[in-house]
Amino acid sequence: MTDMAAMLRLELAGKIGSGGWREALDMVPRERFLGDAIFQLDEARGGLWALARRADLPQHEWLALVYADVTLVTQVDGVMAGDATGAVAGSPTSSSTRPSLVVRMLEAAEIQEGDKVLEIGTGTGYSTALMCQRFGNKAVCSIEYDPVVANRARDAITSAGYSPTLVEGDGLLGYAGKAPYDRLISTCAVRTIPQAWQEQIRVGGTITTPMSGWMCETAFAHLTVTEDGSATGRLLADDLYFMTARAHLPPPRPSLVKGIGDARNAEVDPAILEHGTALWVAQLAAPHAQIAWGENVTFLVDTSTGSRAEIRPDTAGGWTVLQHGPARLWDAVEEAIETWQGAGSPHQSGFGLTVTRESQRVWLGDPDGPSWYLPV
Ligand SMILES: C[S@@+](CC[C@H](N)C(=O)[O-])C[C@H]1O[C@@H](n2cnc3c(N)ncnc32)[C@H](O)[C@@H]1O
Repeated sequence: MTDMAAMLRLELAGKIGSGGWREALDMVPRERFLGDAIFQLDEARGGLWALARRADLPQHEWLALVYADVTLVTQVDGVMAGDATGAVAGSPTSSSTRPSLVVRMLEAAEIQEGDKVLEIGTGTGYSTALMCQRFGNKAVCSIEYDPVVANRARDAITSAGYSPTLVEGDGLLGYAGKAPYDRLISTCAVRTIPQAWQEQIRVGGTITTPMSGWMCETAFAHLTVTEDGSATGRLLADDLYFMTARAHLPPPRPSLVKGIGDARNAEVDPAILEHGTALWVAQLAAPHAQIAWGENVTFLVDTSTGSRAEIRPDTAGGWTVLQHGPARLWDAVEEAIETWQGAGSPHQSGFGLTVTRESQRVWLGDPDGPSWYLPV
């Protein structure tokens, strides 16, 4: 390890860590987890992912990149940066998450000495190594879906001197082999809380996970498992983005057909959906719908029923909505937005989630407040 790497690590730990996490950041060499290349978004080339290779950069530049507090993308649409021969198009499918975000997740999970932790989404293995460094190898079990990513993580974690339980498989099924766990932490976002997670966490244990949906708006859940086997808690105040767990990604969006459906005046300005929490509320109200924006028009398309809504401004002021299909998407969105506005338009942290075997209910304010069901 070079002196420069050690210096940059210390600097990073000083900027973002606190207490035991600061020491762990200072001890775990992030460069071991990134292999020989990463992808960087190249806006100038139409959003392609350009390659940054260790071999092509002076050492200090590569290390400065590695120890910057940024997410470093290591795989795009299944292509590992280390295996790519040039820039690629697509969406990130694995990364080393921004260290400050990793630490924030770990802090939110409130892991205590002696806890057994299940991590979903090993990725590069960096966050797994941070937990091993702080709480010991026996405390950590981590699951990765992608076999290539899982193998690289195993090599990196082992070469850095750690030996947690590493599982290749679908983290949405948890890992019964080491259950029950005290904490579950997911570094990929889920649309609903998988039932296996509830079953594999002990009573009083917690589930800390980013959540997303088919409109791609996020929330951050921290739930406690209770005696009756349900899991409940308020959403947290952090606005954080994690890639979605593979099985929870939206299906391909159907093509947008314009000008069909029954018309009425819209009550709500669709521009409100550019506000993060409003979009989250719309996603709760129409959980199977995807959203698309065109010039002066907002579309909602529900893949499960073929229902659509199209909202446009009127020349005379106001908006017209056209709705088609059995699910009246804009009716549901407007009702939910008005309920949320009536409660003072709180951030996601003004909501909570209660998950039972039968249902997953997001409530506004308190568990008896207005609520919406996540699709299970
Ligand atoms: C943001 S990355 C993980 C970051 C990682 N913890 C780190 O610090 O480098 C998310 C990872 O979750 C993995 N993933 C996605 N869906 C999954 C699933 N259903 N089960 C397990 N892992 C999954 C992806 O392959 C990806 O490697």
